[in-house]
Amino acid sequence: KKVNHQYRLGYHIMAPANWINDPNGLVQYKGEYHVFYQHHPYDENWGPMHWGHVKSKDLVHWQHLPIALAPGDSFDKDGCFSGSAVDNEGELTLIYTGHNYIDKELDTFFQNQNIAVSKDGITFEKAEANPVIAEPPADSSHHFRDPKVWKHEGFWYMILGNSTKKQEGRVILYRSSNLQKWEYVGVLAKSDGDLGYMWECPDFFELDGKHVLMISPQGIEAKGDSYHNLFQTGYLVGEYNYGTNTFHHGSFTELDYGHDFYAVQTLLDDKGRRIAIGWMDMWEANMPTKEDGWCGALTLPRELTLREDKVLMNPVQELTSLRKTQYNMLTNKALSNSYVVEVNEDLLEIQAVFDLADCQASSVGIKIRGINNEETLMCYNLNEQKLLLDCTHSGKEDGVRKVALQAGETLALRIFVDRSSVEVFANEGQATMTSRIYPKESRLGIELFTEGGNVIVKELTYWN
Ligand code: FRU
Repeated sequence: KKVNHQYRLGYHIMAPANWINDPNGLVQYKGEYHVFYQHHPYDENWGPMHWGHVKSKDLVHWQHLPIALAPGDSFDKDGCFSGSAVDNEGELTLIYTGHNYIDKELDTFFQNQNIAVSKDGITFEKAEANPVIAEPPADSSHHFRDPKVWKHEGFWYMILGNSTKKQEGRVILYRSSNLQKWEYVGVLAKSDGDLGYMWECPDFFELDGKHVLMISPQGIEAKGDSYHNLFQTGYLVGEYNYGTNTFHHGSFTELDYGHDFYAVQTLLDDKGRRIAIGWMDMWEANMPTKEDGWCGALTLPRELTLREDKVLMNPVQELTSLRKTQYNMLTNKALSNSYVVEVNEDLLEIQAVFDLADCQASSVGIKIRGINNEETLMCYNLNEQKLLLDCTHSGKEDGVRKVALQAGETLALRIFVDRSSVEVFANEGQATMTSRIYPKESRLGIELFTEGGNVIVKELTYWN
């Protein structure tokens, strides 16, 4: 089959070919960043899950490594599902879920937790002790997966995505002194009724003096501008007490308001940064790249910070090393209608800064990749105080996403454009929107626009 490369991404993690979903096993090991991912190496559709593997010295340039885990043992017969990685005194250890069908047609299955160990960071051996956790607790459903493991004061802790028999999503906690024998501690957090029937891919960490629990719940109803994707990733912020396993937290907040961001995982690096990577796609989304023999990618690495109990995401600083030529197009210029830049590059970073003080416009924004009714549009509505991403004319059916943003006097949009993705970071990560786009034609221009009045453009800069 002739492969069409038009949507292959230029600077994101992808598998060499075929299907990928969740990021797994994010870890820094012997000075290098390792990322694994849910992967079906033999087909562009989801199937028996393997772990793909890449590593990097700088979070920007990634080297492909051999597949780290393949299913087929008695404990992971039908899949090596999502999980995490730790550096256990020089041994890179993967902790993952074994997926085992009872009846594939009926989708009945059981899940357990397993480990695999490597001394070179490339080849992994599954432990003799597998499964290290054979069964979920008694009040649990059969959804029992996605272990995230970390160390705290001499003990290993593991959280798992889970649900009760009554189909309430929750996260449960285990503890171990050696990664092999685990003791059940209890429930870390649970749906209060309308937070979904199953919580996938949990992560739990300290951030700027608080504790953050990331979760990817299934089954939250759309409400206002929130929860418009099939499933969503978000977080709870609070205070955690290891002694009593109590987590007092605020309400659930969505992490990214675009179409394609799910199953985020984080690592803590030797610079003290909490870095997050998500799956840059969504279950049941339109995935036209399947026709080209591949499907799925990971988002750019993002540094997390906390401000007033809100998690901010910003692209890691290393990404500036991708900048080639810098084009300063506008500085402190009044814009009354629109301004178009012809660009001959499909890999771009754009910085657009609008002065909203004394601005009479009703909305200001930017379009990329526009031609013949195609475009991806990002704009800020000053009356509603909302940022909007519209992919209706770049391959999305349910194309509009919105997020509340109190921009104040300045709107600063930092936008990363790849051949089939756009990632928008507004006002230093106050709002983030990530979506795949599938433009049919190849006009590569940038257009700034204002509606309902003039706006001062403080800056329009782009880099190829
Ligand atoms: C999340 C998820 C995980 C599971 C994996 C299977 O997207 O459903 O819960 O481990 O994908 O590929």
